[in-house]
Amino acid sequence: MKKYLFVIGIVFIILVSAFFVGRNSDTQIKPVAQGEKPQQQTSQVTFDKTKYSTTKPGSIWWIVNKQRAAGASYAPTDLVVPNVPVRPSAGADERKLRKEAAGGLEALVAAAKKENINLMLASGYRSYQTQVTVYNNEVKQYGQAKADTQSAKPGYSEHQTGLAMDVEDGARKCEVSDCFGTLPEGKWVAANAYKYGFIVRYTPGKESITGYRAEPWHIRYICTELSNEMHKQNISTLEEFFSN
Ligand code: DAL
Ligand code: ZN
Repeated sequence: MKKYLFVIGIVFIILVSAFFVGRNSDTQIKPVAQGEKPQQQTSQVTFDKTKYSTTKPGSIWWIVNKQRAAGASYAPTDLVVPNVPVRPSAGADERKLRKEAAGGLEALVAAAKKENINLMLASGYRSYQTQVTVYNNEVKQYGQAKADTQSAKPGYSEHQTGLAMDVEDGARKCEVSDCFGTLPEGKWVAANAYKYGFIVRYTPGKESITGYRAEPWHIRYICTELSNEMHKQNISTLEEFFSN
C-alpha cells in the first residue's frame, strides 16, 4: 500500500511541476498590441538599397551604363592621385580617382602586396574628352561593332565618375587584356576586391546585362557596405542588384 501511495505521490509531483513549467513558458509569449509590429523571430536585417542614390551624379552608388549617361559635362570635384604604382604611360587624369575610391584602391593594393601580388593602376578617372580619344582609337583599331562591346561611348563611361578603374599586374604582362583574369593578380582581384569596397564590374555571362564583354581588370568602387552585400548575395552586377 505504502508503495502505491509513494508512486501516486511522485506522479502527482510530476504533473504539478509540468503544469507550472507550461504556464511559465506561456507567459513568455507576449501578446502583440494593436498597431505594434510582431517581434521578428530572427535578427536578419534588410539591406537598405535606398541609402545612396543610384541616379544622382556623384553618388557613391551612381549607376552609369549604356542606358544611363554620365553626360558630357560631369566631372568629379574630389579627384586625388592615389598612392599606388601607376602605368607609366597613363595620362594625367587617368592617374586620378575620387578620394574615397583612391583610399579603397590604396588598401586593396597594399593588401595584395602582403600576399606577393603586385598591382598597378592602369587607368582611373577619364574625362569626357579622354574617353573621346579612347573610343575613337578603339573604333579605328577594331571597327565600331567590336569597339562598342569593350569601350563606352564618350559620356557613357564609368571611368568618368572617378569611381572606376583598370588595374593590371605590376609586370604589365596582361595590360587591359583577357589574360589578366588568368594571372594570379587577376584571380586575386576577382576573389578579394569586394573586401575593399569594389566589384569587378563586367563579369562573364553578364554581357547582355552590362552591355560589355567581361573585363577582369575593370573594378568599380561602391563602398564596402554594398560590395560585402553583393558578395553575400552572389550578385555581380549593379543592374541586377538594384533591378534597373
Ligand atoms: N571599357 C569600359 C566599358 C569603358 O570604356 O568605360
Ligand atoms: Zn575600365
